[in-house]
Amino acid sequence: MTQIPRAAVIGDPISHSLSPKLHGHWLRRYGLAGEYTALHVNKDDLQQTLRDLPGQGFVGANITLPHKVRVLDYADHVSDRATLIGAANTLIFKEDGGIYADNTDGYGFIANLRQGAPDWDPKAGPAAIFGAGGAARAIIVGLADAGVPEIFLSNRTRLKADGLKAEFGARIKVVDWVKAGAMLANATTVINSTSLGMTGAQDFKVSLEALRPDAVVTDIVYNPLQTEFLKQAAAKGCRTVDGLGMLLHQGVPGFERWFGKRPEVDEETRRAVLS
Ligand code: ATR
Repeated sequence: MTQIPRAAVIGDPISHSLSPKLHGHWLRRYGLAGEYTALHVNKDDLQQTLRDLPGQGFVGANITLPHKVRVLDYADHVSDRATLIGAANTLIFKEDGGIYADNTDGYGFIANLRQGAPDWDPKAGPAAIFGAGGAARAIIVGLADAGVPEIFLSNRTRLKADGLKAEFGARIKVVDWVKAGAMLANATTVINSTSLGMTGAQDFKVSLEALRPDAVVTDIVYNPLQTEFLKQAAAKGCRTVDGLGMLLHQGVPGFERWFGKRPEVDEETRRAVLS
């Protein structure tokens, strides 16, 4: 008897994760035999859990906070993208028992922008990124891959932005947080990668006065879907793309590898995940 393929999202905490809804929706939609669950695993149990899962029919997993960096130590093969970003969000358990670690966050970010703003041209001008945490790393790699010529980066803790510049190179220009609004003057792609504006977090207070109306603006915050940041950008005439799509698109490569079908991200997917 062949077991149905199983996958899971692993994190600590995990109950808030939307991934089980996303993958469950795709499994039903395509009539595929498979199972996707959420596993609450703390850092001390992570390595052993990953070694045990293949024997229980698991073909892979998504990894979320706080394990995305740590999991690289437990993988047998790490993709170039995951190495560059310094974190993994997607694991594939290979038939020989090896664990392959990949990172699809940068892909998800770019795929969301391309879908939400089909005429977005990454080469049209500089990008401006607010925030320099884990999400910013994946976004920088995605933008550089897409051919963005220059990236302005501003973070409350400047040292973290300087660290990303040291790592990712000359294309990055660090701007002091108190002057963050000024980096918008030339930017044609603008991203909030901080947690500001999320339900329960502080408001995004940097002035968007200098924002160009031809900029494409996106937010990694998707709770609420229409953040104040996006509302202000839309009021300036900018094309805006909400952050939910990044989460949906980052799930595509994993689902395809585990269950054998490349899934669609569309209105139906969004509704299923938000229901
Ligand atoms: P992750 O690695 O998951 O992205 P993080 O490292 O805590 O999480 O990043 C959150 C981002 O939101 C950071 O850029 C953080 O700025 P700091 O590096 O200065 O902490 C930013 N952020 C969170 N709260 C903020 C606030 N009140 N004002 C400005 N930036 C804030």
